[in-house]
Amino acid sequence: MILIHTPNPKEVDAYLALFRAARPQRRFIALDDQADLSQVSQLIAWGPPEGLLSRLPRLQAIFALGAGVDKLLSRPDLSPATPIYRLLDGGMAAQMTEYIRYGVLGYQRNMDVYRRQQAAGQWRMLAPRLPGEVSVGILGLGEIGSAVARALAHDGYLVSGWSRSPKRIHNVHSLHGESGLEKLLERNQVVACVLPSTPETRGLLNGERLSLMQPGSMLINAGRGDLLDQRALLALLDNGHIRCAQLDVFAEEPLPADHPFWRHPAVTMTPHIAAITLRERAVEQICAGLDRLERGLPADGLVRRDDGY
Ligand SMILES: NC(=O)c1ccc[n+]([C@@H]2O[C@H](COP(=O)([O-])OP(=O)(O)OC[C@H]3O[C@@H](n4cnc5c(N)ncnc54)[C@H](OP(=O)(O)O)[C@@H]3O)[C@@H](O)[C@H]2O)c1
Repeated sequence: MILIHTPNPKEVDAYLALFRAARPQRRFIALDDQADLSQVSQLIAWGPPEGLLSRLPRLQAIFALGAGVDKLLSRPDLSPATPIYRLLDGGMAAQMTEYIRYGVLGYQRNMDVYRRQQAAGQWRMLAPRLPGEVSVGILGLGEIGSAVARALAHDGYLVSGWSRSPKRIHNVHSLHGESGLEKLLERNQVVACVLPSTPETRGLLNGERLSLMQPGSMLINAGRGDLLDQRALLALLDNGHIRCAQLDVFAEEPLPADHPFWRHPAVTMTPHIAAITLRERAVEQICAGLDRLERGLPADGLVRRDDGY
């Protein structure tokens, strides 16, 4: 029996319909079906309620309905033995590419400055810049970050990327390690973060590291909110060292109504929508994973629990 859960009951219904149509021979259930949870062998979920995992004694695998599994991994009711599979791309890489490309293009064309000039009633032309004059550093070169880096390099930007292991991506300068991170922050006009939240990356973008960014640079964070010291960013935006920020993820979501980011002239905010799970793609990938596990084969997207992503 396969249990499907997300916090939104309408979404659960939509997933149930898709999974049942894709694999009619399997039994998919929702929590409110009053089924015997002791028979659940797989859980397909996003944000399962506290304590649910310990009510599933026969659980063999969890399929996360997203790319980031930080919340799931920090659950006290998660058994260390249960394998977790996450979504690989699932249409998210293309959306994230659009999100980051939008920010980079806006920066290249000085749209943030023009917005502020408009508010101040100023008519002032700035020197145009070509993509080849704008350097972009991508933090995280996984399923999503590598697609973003490739696309921006194709657009003609000068692209570097940072990951744990070195990468070979056409026209993308690969950096790794602490010294690689410092270089990336120092050398790029736009820094875009698509890292996962792990014990190693939480708090990575602290005041000291953010201060390494070039004067007049831009920060985009679409990884996770806890990677970034929000107060430090605010101070650097206030003193003009960092020119603007495009933020999709926050330490607390929704961001509290009195947070200064809401009204900051240099901040563009979005409510964690940079790349959302596309249901059909998720169902396709998870069904393929279920089939492979049934045949005793490894499924794609296995989370390396020790690495936290
Ligand atoms: N805002 C949104 O809407 C949204 C949507 C989807 C995903 N996300 C975020 O994006 C993250 C990345 O997704 P993904 O599918 O690309 O994940 P992924 O394939 O696991 O890639 C993660 C990347 O981060 C690198 N990394 C991890 N820990 C590191 C460390 N300590 N130092 C340096 N690099 C490190 C990895 O390096 P290696 O390649 O060397 O392993 C890899 O390149 C997700 O975890 C999630 O937080 C956000």
